[in-house]
Amino acid sequence: MKFNLLIIIMFGILYAIFSLKTAGVTPEQLAVKKCSKCHYSLDIIKGKQLTKLEWISVLDRMQKKGANLSNKEYKIILNYLLRGFSN
Ligand code: HEC
Repeated sequence: MKFNLLIIIMFGILYAIFSLKTAGVTPEQLAVKKCSKCHYSLDIIKGKQLTKLEWISVLDRMQKKGANLSNKEYKIILNYLLRGFSN
């Protein structure tokens, strides 16, 4: 019984740490983190006004080069691009 309780508490702590980590990241910070692997800054994005289809095609191209986005990260970054850099 004590052992089970210990496991539950440990998962609780891990879960709390994990949620804190993901909740603290804004879409912009995520984009900087993922895209700055190859682009010095977000300047490559900031001058642009692309349509949704064009951004999707850019993101797909970056994925092929090795941007390595999970489904969730892809959606967050696409939304960020559409909100700020799309017409
Ligand atoms: C693995 C390296 C790599 C990563 C990571 C990467 N890129 Fe790129 N990106 C490139 C290269 C190389 C080019 C230039 C060649 C090209 O456009 O295909 C480029 C070009 C671009 C361009 C210019 C395209 C155009 O048509 O003008 C944009 C915009 C861009 N990247 C956005 C992003 C965004 C947003 C991210 C993050 C989600 C990202 N990139 C992550 C390598 C990368």
